[in-house]
Amino acid sequence: MDKKDNVYSDPLEKIVDFRFDEKVASIFEDMLRRSIPGYAASITAIGLLAKRFFKEGTNCYDLGSSLGAASLSMQKSLEGKKGKIIAVDNSQAMIERSKEFLSEPSTMEIELKCADISEIEIKNASVVVLNYTLQFIPREQRGNLLRKIFNGMIDGGILIVSEKIKFSDGEEQKLMTDLYYDFKEFNGYSKLEISQKREALENVLIPETLDEHKERIEKIGFSKFYLWYKYFTFASYFAIK
Ligand SMILES: C[S@@+](CC[C@H](N)C(=O)[O-])C[C@H]1O[C@@H](n2cnc3c(N)ncnc32)[C@H](O)[C@@H]1O
Repeated sequence: MDKKDNVYSDPLEKIVDFRFDEKVASIFEDMLRRSIPGYAASITAIGLLAKRFFKEGTNCYDLGSSLGAASLSMQKSLEGKKGKIIAVDNSQAMIERSKEFLSEPSTMEIELKCADISEIEIKNASVVVLNYTLQFIPREQRGNLLRKIFNGMIDGGILIVSEKIKFSDGEEQKLMTDLYYDFKEFNGYSKLEISQKREALENVLIPETLDEHKERIEKIGFSKFYLWYKYFTFASYFAIK
């Protein structure tokens, strides 16, 4: 059984900015499952999309890999193929814990890197995954990161991005946010947990609208943008080079 997320269950005197530290890494499966509508669907889809778009002898990148769920999904669906999965996260705690999950022998080796995704080299990539990671990158750096990814991808390669999103229409923003909090309560989080976590994420997780995502992707030069999933304040899309 996963360890239960109770990081925000007791009243905190001071709410500090959210960090992917050891405490969070130790309960992260439970946090992801109960906090992100559609998280499991994103992991399944990443495997299916990788199977369709991966090219022999190329690399797959899992950027902001956390415990490696997206890497594992790609590894399973690409078993028997030749290539490499490069999983990158700048949280040492996440990288250490992910080793518990990523030890199976496979033709698709998973290379774990503790590094900032803005600083690594991306090359010969047919599949690149940013599963709920781009939202944590400072906004002004997102264009450069995506451009670097684009330049490191082969033609026909796929970039898969899942994010928390916001809405330009105030009424839609309020309704979707309320529904998202309903989702969290349905999954057992108290109102206190929801509000303390919201405060902790306020300056750390900066969502954008789907139009902002689409415009940037097209400006960088990707030939296609497909929204394949949306659930309240979360969405997932893929772009083809
Ligand atoms: C919401 S989690 C991603 C979940 C994961 N992709 C999955 O599908 O299970 C965001 C992750 O991005 C990592 N991260 C945030 N900023 C990063 C950066 N600049 N470089 C590398 N990793 C980063 C965090 O440490 C965290 O593990």
